Amino acid sequence: MPLVSTRQLLDEAAKGGYGVGAFNVNDMEQIQAIMEAAKETNSPVIIQASRGARAFAQDNYLYHLMLAAAELYPQIPLAMHLDHGNSFETCESAIKLGFTSVMMDGSLKPDGKTPATFEENVAVTKKVVDYAHERGISVEGEIGVLGGIEDGHGAGGSGLDHVTDPDQAVEFAELTGVDSLAIAIGTSHGAYKFTKKPDGSVLKMDLLIAIHKRLPNTHLVMHGSSSVPKDLQDIINQYGGKLKETWGVPVEEIQLGIKNGVRKVNVDTDNRLAITGAIRKVFVESPEKFDPRDYMKPARAAMQKVVATRMVQFGQAGHAGDYTAISIADMAKGYANGTLVTKPLVGAK
Ligand code: G3H
Ligand code: 13P
Ligand code: ZN
Repeated sequence: MPLVSTRQLLDEAAKGGYGVGAFNVNDMEQIQAIMEAAKETNSPVIIQASRGARAFAQDNYLYHLMLAAAELYPQIPLAMHLDHGNSFETCESAIKLGFTSVMMDGSLKPDGKTPATFEENVAVTKKVVDYAHERGISVEGEIGVLGGIEDGHGAGGSGLDHVTDPDQAVEFAELTGVDSLAIAIGTSHGAYKFTKKPDGSVLKMDLLIAIHKRLPNTHLVMHGSSSVPKDLQDIINQYGGKLKETWGVPVEEIQLGIKNGVRKVNVDTDNRLAITGAIRKVFVESPEKFDPRDYMKPARAAMQKVVATRMVQFGQAGHAGDYTAISIADMAKGYANGTLVTKPLVGAK
């Protein structure tokens, strides 16, 4: 199957009532881990690259690795997504390269740190939507600001500093026409999300439910969705790591989100933890080894296990064969003739 639009994956997920994991990559082994997990669980999947990943791997390497994945796993619907684009130019370059969807994170200014105004966010996101839809590419916007910082990106602070206002979410969706919308409900990026096991009141699930009721046709996206499992933390610390005690987002909360309109679930940190733990284990247990394959193989296997587990938990497992790819050219026609244009408020209660 050629690379497909994230919009198609999310429309199918909405029909089937499940979520689709969007996993971050920086290198070949991470792409391989995700594709093997998708094959193992028969799942459609979104692979995403941040600006940091693009700089680390170089665009052409990333793109051709993604083409290889699509070629090697023709049965898997696979989308290539830009995570946290910070400007029109970043999104434009990703689209020119061949990404099949982009996130324009206009919740922050182009420095990727300072919260932007609502008007700035609408203006830049709308510009990206117009450019992208003309080319058959789908767009994720963000309203409200997540906590935490990854690779210099993010406003920092707690996830509860700038949660999404439902009125603004509705206005934003109407004004921009985004295909999907990332909302801030108290999560943050990275390993240090919560200092104790979050109970039902920590994440603002009531807010999520209210937003979904008012925007039933806009696919919701949950960033910062790593669960930071204790067993993965323990492996790292057992083999010389120094992680402080921390808690992530309980899978049950994500599943509640999926029941209420969340269709894309972003996970990076859990895979980083799995890889690092596996490599540390080899280094400590077999210090005589120096062939990178001796530690990259277990690292890749550890990531595959996490991804496959999430695919089952998010409900995408078993759905790879439900549909055939809509070409990007046909997606462009759909946006042009109105059939793919999101009508945010139709059917709202
Ligand atoms: O949004 C954050 C993702 O985990 C990507 O992180 O910017 O360090 O590549 P990064
Ligand atoms: P985590 O840091 O929780 O894995 O979140 C990743 C993410 O939201 C990428 O956009
Ligand atoms: Zn994110």
